[in-house]
Amino acid sequence: MTQHATTTARTDAVRAVVVVAAGSGTRLGLGTAKAFVPVAGRVMLARALEPLFTLAEPVFVVVVAPDALLEQCRDVVAATAGVAVGYTAVVAGGDDRHASVQAGLAALPPSVETVLVHDAARCLTPASQFQAVFDAVQQHGCGIVPALPVTDTVKRVEDDVVVETVDRSSLVGVQTPQGFPLSELRAAYATSTQSETDDAGVFQASGGTVRFVAGDADAFKITTAWDLRRAEAVVAGSAGASSVAGSPSGSSSGPGSSSGSGSSSAAADVRVGLGMDVHAFDAAAPCRVGLLDFPGEPGLAGHSDGDAVAHAVCDALLSAGGLGDIGSRFGTSDPAYAGATGDVFVRGAVQALASVGLRPERVTVQVIGNRPRIGARRDEMQDALAAVVGAPVAVSGTTTDGLGFAGRGEGLAAIATAVVHRA
Ligand code: CTP
Ligand code: MG
Repeated sequence: MTQHATTTARTDAVRAVVVVAAGSGTRLGLGTAKAFVPVAGRVMLARALEPLFTLAEPVFVVVVAPDALLEQCRDVVAATAGVAVGYTAVVAGGDDRHASVQAGLAALPPSVETVLVHDAARCLTPASQFQAVFDAVQQHGCGIVPALPVTDTVKRVEDDVVVETVDRSSLVGVQTPQGFPLSELRAAYATSTQSETDDAGVFQASGGTVRFVAGDADAFKITTAWDLRRAEAVVAGSAGASSVAGSPSGSSSGPGSSSGSGSSSAAADVRVGLGMDVHAFDAAAPCRVGLLDFPGEPGLAGHSDGDAVAHAVCDALLSAGGLGDIGSRFGTSDPAYAGATGDVFVRGAVQALASVGLRPERVTVQVIGNRPRIGARRDEMQDALAAVVGAPVAVSGTTTDGLGFAGRGEGLAAIATAVVHRA
């Protein structure tokens, strides 16, 4: 499958999420719209959006932002969505949450059948919660809220007098995202009196049924300074857990050295790509492998210079970004690439990644064939490739014990992996 980054809205998604982020954050009191307040170095909105682009099925995402921050919001959305940016829209919110949700619903493409409404302020909500709500709407065809049992003893009060203890066994606290069949939610909002405090309330007031699924403690809403500190502690805790789980690479430019205060999300947003290429030997052609010339060695046949190593690296980088492959991006039938040297394709892949906010972190490539022998020139090849990739490249070589086309000396193969992360 080939995916291309596009700025044209895609209109084929049947699932959508409206993320309301247009509030001012009065109770947080930082003088910044709440969705743009950083949590451990990364703004709440970016954290809230991240899980949406990891779901199994594509979702259309509408972000509802303060009127004065639409450009800033678009930047956050583009950087977070990457190649999925075509599945996003940014619209201005209203005076209250109710109006903001309505603005978001109005921006959905006609293909959408199921919508989730989510508060950006619940920015640590895991992807599993979005998935569970989508699945439950599909299964039951009604409204769905994520809910947690109430653990405090609950009292009914009048003025400063406690009237009674309320039986909490039938009480839950509800979170977002709340999910609905879109046409029914639209109809509910069209007749809503605005007295309801959440979307499920609006839906129910118009006669809809609402069920609940299990919520997640991390999906708490950030309202006050205390909540913000709690969120920072949660992020710090999960960053600690992942650095224990993942052993360091041992390289000076390994994953641990690449990020600053936002390290936990950078570590979470790592993508891996795989590339493979084969070219037949052509004794008449000059031999270029891994961006190096090998005088006296048989060359490789191909529309370009046949540098299987560079092409495998290019494909690994493109695949890590979900950006298709060398053939679909650089058209081997395109005369512009006739005789092109391998660095042209690798550089093109790095630029394609940059255009969707991704950067190579590390590349490995294995050369498979009898010749040229790369051992003596490994360092040189690594340096030449690293200079174009902009990150360390490890080169290894192997033969196939005389087996197959490589063993018979008919051609050269290369397999590469690439790790990229958000720039
Ligand atoms: N929201 C919105 N448009 C509004 C008001 C709120 O999109 N006019 C969004 C907020 O951005 C938030 C969610 O609705 O993601 C829940 O609102 P709340 O937690 O109350 O956020 P704020 O209104 O920003 O905070 P405060 O009430 O303290 O000002
Ligand atoms: Mg509010």
